[in-house]
Amino acid sequence: MKRFISMGRPGSLGSRVVQPEWLDELDPADARAQRSRRDLQRVNAWMGNVRKVAQALERAPLREPPGRLVEWGAGDGTFLLQVARRLHARWPKVEAVTVDRLALLSPQTQQGFARLGWTIQAVQADVFEWLRVDPGGKSDVLLSNLFLHHLAAETLGLLLEHAAKRAALLFLACEPERSRLALLGARCLGLIGCNQVTRHDAIISVRAGFCGCEVSDLWPKGGGGQLNERPAGLFSHLFQARHAGGGKGRHA
Ligand SMILES: C[S@@+](CC[C@H](N)C(=O)[O-])C[C@H]1O[C@@H](n2cnc3c(N)ncnc32)[C@H](O)[C@@H]1O
Repeated sequence: MKRFISMGRPGSLGSRVVQPEWLDELDPADARAQRSRRDLQRVNAWMGNVRKVAQALERAPLREPPGRLVEWGAGDGTFLLQVARRLHARWPKVEAVTVDRLALLSPQTQQGFARLGWTIQAVQADVFEWLRVDPGGKSDVLLSNLFLHHLAAETLGLLLEHAAKRAALLFLACEPERSRLALLGARCLGLIGCNQVTRHDAIISVRAGFCGCEVSDLWPKGGGGQLNERPAGLFSHLFQARHAGGGKGRHA
């Protein structure tokens, strides 16, 4: 197994601190939560995460487009839809699955996937619960965006064990970089109109984010794959574990 690891940039904060986020505690029907979900689209744009994830997927040396792609902690699915819009010309038929503990995909978002030729299955479940009811199920690509940082090291290590077993070709995670610059960016989210919930959670998220090779260090030893972990742009942190080979339908 090879590990390609970049060092965190100077100016990183202290150790990770994982704290509850308000959006996870608010009733999804609460107006502040609904507004914060919409803010997340702006935050993803501000961080450049759609472009970064789409580029990383495009550049992954897969011999064929993936058959099945799963996103953990997918929220309202609009992040994955935007990624799909960038990829569908090359990856015209993907069976996409979103897993989130809340049922948030609107009919419009589901239609958006259908218009691209992608099928979409929105699963409402805690990821660990989903892993229990889908034992042995593999996906060609497993991804997450702004999700892993919710988990403390021990739980994250367990989840990464599943990722190593279940991502046949690629596991990709895009998270906040835990740096002073990202903290400054989080403090400026009011300038792009984000509400109090989003501004609070952004700061919590940066403090729970990653730097250096912290995700690689939690990847199971012997989990296989080429690891690549690095800061991405000003505010993001990208982790990839690529398995050799390619080809559709490698999932069970
Ligand atoms: C910050 S949001 C990111 C949503 C989406 N990936 C995006 O970028 O817009 C994190 C999401 O993870 C979900 N989540 C948190 N813990 C979870 C868990 N244990 N299982 C499933 N979903 C979870 C939350 O409900 C929330 O929708």
